[in-house]
Amino acid sequence: MQIELLAWYDHYGRSLPWRIRPEDKLAGKKVDPYAVWLSEIMLQQTTIAHATPYWEKFIFEFPTVIDLADSNRDKIMAMWSGLGYYARARNLHKCAQLIRDQYGGFFPKHEFELLKLPGIGPYAAAAIAAICFDEPTNIVDSNVERVISRIFKIEDPLPKYRNIYRIKAGVLAPTDRPGDYGQALMDLGSTICTPKAPKCSDCPWLDECAAQTDGSQIQYPKKIKKKKLPIRYGAVFILSNNDSVFLRQRPDSGLLGGMMGFPGTTWSENKSLSIQSAPAAKNWEKCPELVFHTFSHFKLELEVYRAYGKADDNQGIWADLNTIETYALPTVMLKALKISMK
Ligand code: ADE
Repeated sequence: MQIELLAWYDHYGRSLPWRIRPEDKLAGKKVDPYAVWLSEIMLQQTTIAHATPYWEKFIFEFPTVIDLADSNRDKIMAMWSGLGYYARARNLHKCAQLIRDQYGGFFPKHEFELLKLPGIGPYAAAAIAAICFDEPTNIVDSNVERVISRIFKIEDPLPKYRNIYRIKAGVLAPTDRPGDYGQALMDLGSTICTPKAPKCSDCPWLDECAAQTDGSQIQYPKKIKKKKLPIRYGAVFILSNNDSVFLRQRPDSGLLGGMMGFPGTTWSENKSLSIQSAPAAKNWEKCPELVFHTFSHFKLELEVYRAYGKADDNQGIWADLNTIETYALPTVMLKALKISMK
């Protein structure tokens, strides 16, 4: 099976900006572990299409891990803005500094060493070790889980029985070309063995696929029904002065930690809002639209208030609206800003 998949990858695997394709390896090109690490951290939370422009911007701005380590964290947070899961941006900086200070600027080569670094979990450690250093690991992401679930018709639902998928994937993982194999399997999952309309006639594992024999592909992987996300309510206060808006940095710990944001209420499951969180005693005008935003574990409905003038305290900064993209404003705050400007 491994030979068929690798042959498929040699032909149909994707070209990605951080990837060295088999023919390029033969021509002597080397994988850059920094480029791969950056891509894998970004891709844990989003699609290749969404992450690629961010990856390009980071590589342009910080061509090496030392450049990233030497940068200041707020700049990294600002560049990460829009990718979500902002703890990952904080860990990215920490990890780059550790690589600079304790590893002489080189990524460690083994999965078990990579696992010790901030922000690198089992998936990323396996992916980096295999892709960069051809260590035979077992790379399992959600694409791989889907492929494996169909090949073996695994009835045990995700996420509870994730370990079973890992074990079955591990049985197939080869020692030959482990990096290409891992990338091939992920490509197979995202381009052929897709959730709703798999292109089975193009699949190199068609004959090996248990689900295909009875046409049950799209019933896999089995999943435990997700509980409905709770809704939290809150408000933000957008104070403007000329071409600037007033921002505060959020505390390092907690949601959107270290990012910038408009002053606001806490976000709570009961709806009563307190105007005391406003940055100034003003005649706050309530904007007609609400912000709706989904986080991993709750949905948020935010009221947006706006006013003009000075703040009553100086625990914040005035951000120029003409260069607002250079501040670390997460998507939820950009949505609020947009509503306040209508
Ligand atoms: N998704 C996340 N990492 C990937 C990789 N290296 N190749 C293909 N798809 C991926």
